[in-house]
Amino acid sequence: MAKMIIDDKEVEVREGLTLLDVFRKIGVNVPTLCHHEAVSPYGACRLCLVEVTMGRRNMLAASCLYPVTEGIIVKTDSERVLRARRMVAELLLARSPNVPYIQEIAKAQGIEEPRFRKRDERCVLCGLCVRGCREIAGVGAIDFSNRGVYMEVVTSFKILSEACVGCTTCVYLCPTDAIWSGDIRELSFAKSSNGDQGLVTPHYLDESMPRPIVGVTCTLGAGYMNPRFQEIEASGP
Ligand code: SF4
Ligand code: FES
Repeated sequence: MAKMIIDDKEVEVREGLTLLDVFRKIGVNVPTLCHHEAVSPYGACRLCLVEVTMGRRNMLAASCLYPVTEGIIVKTDSERVLRARRMVAELLLARSPNVPYIQEIAKAQGIEEPRFRKRDERCVLCGLCVRGCREIAGVGAIDFSNRGVYMEVVTSFKILSEACVGCTTCVYLCPTDAIWSGDIRELSFAKSSNGDQGLVTPHYLDESMPRPIVGVTCTLGAGYMNPRFQEIEASGP
């Protein structure tokens, strides 16, 4: 067991938990985006930042990753935390200004309009789909590719993957509806304008499509190329 102070209250909790686990246990509300109990924490969104003081060191830390540690002092709503959280929310809103869930997150932090140049991305790179595919489905049909502003979620070599088992884990976990499941019959529309079959990533869409359609339930359209799904399509409705 470890003793810590959270928002001026002393708590004693089991080691091995994260700060976010503790907040949820004791009813402290800290916003999250890239966290889901079903998959391992990743620390992508930084929305769960809190202020941690350990001896003379003071820092902002992602609470979904920070382990319970004897003697630390944690603030979840200091001015520094709120400022950082607002900045994270503002950046998210600038990236995905048309995603309702991101609008809600930003609004909760008092941000209605970002000061930064807006993009129109649906994917916020939270990595929930990637972790779900790897850890829950045990497949790993998708992963991140590239860095910085070019980072995206793709299948290997950006070609339709036969690894996808069509489980919809990615669809279920995606908080922004960047991936959704469609009926296999709709896939005839899901051909990209450059002639490639199907869709490989939210960022490689036929412009006529509002969002990527994913197989009967498959991952980023990857299941489309899975022979089993092709058989389904061939047999028709
Ligand atoms: S597609 Fe959805 S779940 Fe995957 S990284 Fe983007 S926002 Fe997150
Ligand atoms: S929820 Fe902790 S970094 Fe996203």
